[in-house]
Amino acid sequence: MNKPSRIAETHRLDLTHRPRRNRKAEWARRLVSEHVLTASDLIWPLFLIDSGKRRVPVAPMPGVDRLSVDEAVREAERAVKLDIPAIAFFPYTEPQLKDARGSEAFNENNLVCKACRAIKKEFAQLGLVTDVALDPYTSHGHDGLVRESASGDLTILNDETVEALVRQALTQARAGADIIAPSDMMDGRVGAIREALDAEGFLEVQIMAYSAKYASAFYGPFRDALGSAGALKGDKRTYQMDSANSDEALREVELDLDEGADMVMVKPGMPYLDIIRRVKDEFGAPTFAYQVSGEYSMIMAAAQNGWIDGDKAMMESLIAFKRAGADGVLTYFAPRAAEKLRSK
Ligand code: PBG
Repeated sequence: MNKPSRIAETHRLDLTHRPRRNRKAEWARRLVSEHVLTASDLIWPLFLIDSGKRRVPVAPMPGVDRLSVDEAVREAERAVKLDIPAIAFFPYTEPQLKDARGSEAFNENNLVCKACRAIKKEFAQLGLVTDVALDPYTSHGHDGLVRESASGDLTILNDETVEALVRQALTQARAGADIIAPSDMMDGRVGAIREALDAEGFLEVQIMAYSAKYASAFYGPFRDALGSAGALKGDKRTYQMDSANSDEALREVELDLDEGADMVMVKPGMPYLDIIRRVKDEFGAPTFAYQVSGEYSMIMAAAQNGWIDGDKAMMESLIAFKRAGADGVLTYFAPRAAEKLRSK
């Protein structure tokens, strides 16, 4: 047995409390661990493409490919095997299919609808999340409809956009989407979508609102993946939030919940953990974090350089969301994290 050390006596250290006792061994640490991450916490975002190839890599996101619908079905199977409850779709759209109004969003045979139908048929037990916003389909790269002034300034039109988003949401619900996720940040869209879904009998289709979505530099690799980066005219600061704000996030979440959102989201993830905590404490609603493309890229880039341990950084970043109060995380790491959790 160790006796209290002389150092402790001479310096009169108060060692009634030795918090390190609870960390002395793996079993002891497990016993007192406060948060857990399981595969059930993960939503896996997938990029879709119609290019004739099965997979097209996303350069700034090592390990992430854009997938043909066939390949997406195979990844859906992987999600089911890994116990990941839901996947989300984001389409790369060929430039010739883009226009100022984002018409491809309402095509019942667009990539997202095709993927929903193909996967629903084979894996009905998997949740399908579809993104509502026009940016994959607009020639100007904005999430909404725009008016251009004579001098070339763009105004994003809120109410006209909401009408288009309702149409897009219905198109997705008809194709079998389980969760409609508006990521556009237009005012009033959640209520309008809820009303339209109900009117068409989609009473069970859920809405996961991107409620507190910030205008962020961390979306860069995603815009590359979608092919909307080069196209984007200006920025999204008239609809996405200012990173200096946090009370505003609570007001956005409150509105979305009032309008009928079943789940809310904070995005990006890691730089906004404080927002997740405030939202969870204030409303106690199902709260999700989106660990966005740039967050994934940063971890992967450092890992590929041998500067950090990629797997450990991944797991640490994911438990941080749980600690902050998130019920789940949208993350490109989903399959890798689920595999790691399985092998533990
Ligand atoms: C756009 C949308 C974006 C993301 C999801 N939906 C980007 C943007 O707002 O420009 C970003 C996701 C990511 O970076 O991983 N509606």
